[in-house]
Order: sequence, then structure tokens, then C-alpha cells
Amino acid sequence: MNQINLGVIGAGWVGGIRANACAANPLVDELHIAEIDPARAAEIGAQAGAARVTADWTEIIGSPQIDAVIIASTPESQRFPILRAALEEGKHVLIEKPVAPTLEETDEAIALCDARELKLAVGYTRRFDPKYAFINRAIKAGDIGDPVTCLVSRNITREIGDKIKGRSKMSPAAMGGTHSIDFLLWCLQPRLPVKVYSQQAGKLFNKVSDTPDHQWIMVTMDDGTTIAAGSGWVLPLGYPQYSQSWIEIVGTEGALTVDDTHREISLNTVENGIRYPLSSMPGEPVDHVFAGAMADETNHFVTAVAHDRPVLANAREARLVMDVTMAADLSAETGEPVSLSLP
Ligand SMILES: NC(=O)c1ccc[n+]([C@@H]2O[C@H](COP(=O)([O-])OP(=O)(O)OC[C@H]3O[C@@H](n4cnc5c(N)ncnc54)[C@H](O)[C@@H]3O)[C@@H](O)[C@H]2O)c1
Repeated sequence: MNQINLGVIGAGWVGGIRANACAANPLVDELHIAEIDPARAAEIGAQAGAARVTADWTEIIGSPQIDAVIIASTPESQRFPILRAALEEGKHVLIEKPVAPTLEETDEAIALCDARELKLAVGYTRRFDPKYAFINRAIKAGDIGDPVTCLVSRNITREIGDKIKGRSKMSPAAMGGTHSIDFLLWCLQPRLPVKVYSQQAGKLFNKVSDTPDHQWIMVTMDDGTTIAAGSGWVLPLGYPQYSQSWIEIVGTEGALTVDDTHREISLNTVENGIRYPLSSMPGEPVDHVFAGAMADETNHFVTAVAHDRPVLANAREARLVMDVTMAADLSAETGEPVSLSLP
């Protein structure tokens, strides 16, 4: 078996899920973890049976025996030096979105990958959710004819919104909307986005910060398909890290309607009222199984590195998503549509 050694940098909520998935993957020999919170480092190190736990990410990047790293530290704005160092040291990388704060840095990362033949996967976890994979296949197979409009409306609870707005100034487009834009651009390949319009709304978080509550993005594709992607983070608590989406794709020969609101399980208790278990975006472990897409996504990356296969969500695609979300933020600021001139 072609085993690899892997490092996880930033083992909070998401990094912890990925570390545990790697620990259970027979293709992973040694698992190394860098985490600056000592309590979390001790907890996840023991859970995942890590070969090494350190507070210093440079130790992981500098270790010649490590083949690949997963970068899941926050804040997002401080991750690029870690990414660049990892690629310069010849490590394959899975990074949470966005690849980097700017397009220039993203291009630098892509150039490093090209020069060193490295894989750079981006954490667009929706692509590994069976419902989303089904929509992608149906659109690409022409099951609904030619797509006309594509809607994804995604909302998460204010508990997550609070966590996100506390650590960075990233917009709803860049944080949650990016998943929907990536998903729809993937489904609509090889079409390209040509025009973006966006509006933000704020009535809750903006009283205490400069963060809006919600953002809508409208994208015109080069064949005239319209995308509408909404992303908000002020839902009341429905379960820890609850996330809900409605998806509606209408084509010339049919339509796809997908309820991704996690209503299939409801747990009603005297103490908490109605809750919707297993409803977070990455998913969660349930004893011997993982309910959600993030474990499969992590295993896909491990397999891609161990067997030298391509990654599903690569940095060039992620750059295109950044083009759209950055244009959306500009549009929301100016109130004008933004044209994209892509090669
Ligand atoms: N793909 C998805 O579905 C999905 C879902 C939620 C979050 N995310 C993304 O995952 C990333 C992580 O989010 P999270 O909710 O796990 O955040 P988190 O705050 O729970 O975890 C981040 C961890 O990084 C650690 N850290 C910070 N700086 C570090 C450093 N220099 N070295 C080592 N560790 C360091 C922190 O102590 C913390 O434990 C974010 O970019 C987020 O946007 C992705």
C-alpha cells in the first residue's frame, strides 16, 4: 500500500474533522498536527493518535517525511504564508477556501504548484455531498435540457455568523456564498461567468460590527444562464452549526428542486424544542460513521496524493470563484454590475 504522511495545521472544528478522517484512513501512516490552542491540541492529538502535536506549523512544513498538509487554521487572512511555505517545501495541500486573500497570491500558489507538480485542493465540501453530486451529474448529462436559471439560497445560524464575523471582515459572499458559486460554476462547466451584480442587507450584525447579515449574488453566464446565490448567517439556532439550503435549477426540458434543509430528522425535546440533527455543512461523526461530506472530501484528497490522481476542486477553479465573489463585493459596494473579462 502506498501510504503517505500528512500534517493538519489548525485543528479546530473543521481541522479536527479532517484530522480524524485522516487518522482512520489506511493510506495515512503518520499524522502530524499543528494547533496553537494547547487544550484543543491535546484533545485532538489524543483522539486522532497523532505521531506529533506541535504549536509551531513551521515544524510540520519543515519535516521532509511529510508528503501533504491540510491547512484549516483561522483567520483566513493569515494563511497564505503557511500555504506558500508548504508549496515551496514540496507538500501537496488541501486548504479551506479561499486559497488566499488576493488573486495575486492565488496566482503565486498556482504557479508554485505547476512548477513543482503539486496538488492544491480547495475545501469546496458541497461537491462531496451526494445531493450536490447528483445535481452536477444531471445538469452535465442534459437531464433538464439547457439550464436557464440556477438558484441556491443558503443560510446558517447566527452562532456561526458570530464566530465568522468575530475573526475577519470577509463578506457573506466570500464565506458562505463561495460554496454556492463554486457548486454552480462546477455544474455549469464549461460555461464562464461574465457579469456579477450583488446586494447586501444588514439589520442585526451591522448594529455591532461592519458585517452584513446577508448577501445575494446574481451572475450572468456566457450562454445567458442566470445564477442567483444567497448567503446569510442570522438564522436562529436549529441545531449546533445548523445550515439550510434550497436549490432550484430550471432548464429548457425540466427542473431540479432539492431540499437541503435537513428536515429529514427532527428531534423534539422538552428542553430544546425542535432540533434538526446532522445538519451542519461539514457533517459530524455518529459512532462508527460520519454523517456528512467532509470525511469523503478529506479521503479523496488523501487518495489523490497517495495514488497521484487529480483533485476534484482545484485551485484554478477556486480562483474563478474568487473572481466572482470579489466582483460581488465590489458590486455590493458600488451598487453597479461588474463585468468579468476572463480568458
Ligand atoms: N468546507 C466547509 O464546509 C467548511 C465549513 C466550515 C468552515 N470552513 C472553513 O474552515 C476553516 C476553519 O474553520 P473552523 O470553523 O474550523 O475554525 P476554528 O476557529 O474552529 O479552527 C481554527 C483553528 O486554527 C487554530 N490556529 C489558528 N492559528 C494557527 C496557527 N498559526 N497554527 C496552528 N493552528 C492555528 C486555532 O487555534 C483553531 O483551533 C475556515 O477557513 C472556514 O471558513 C469550511
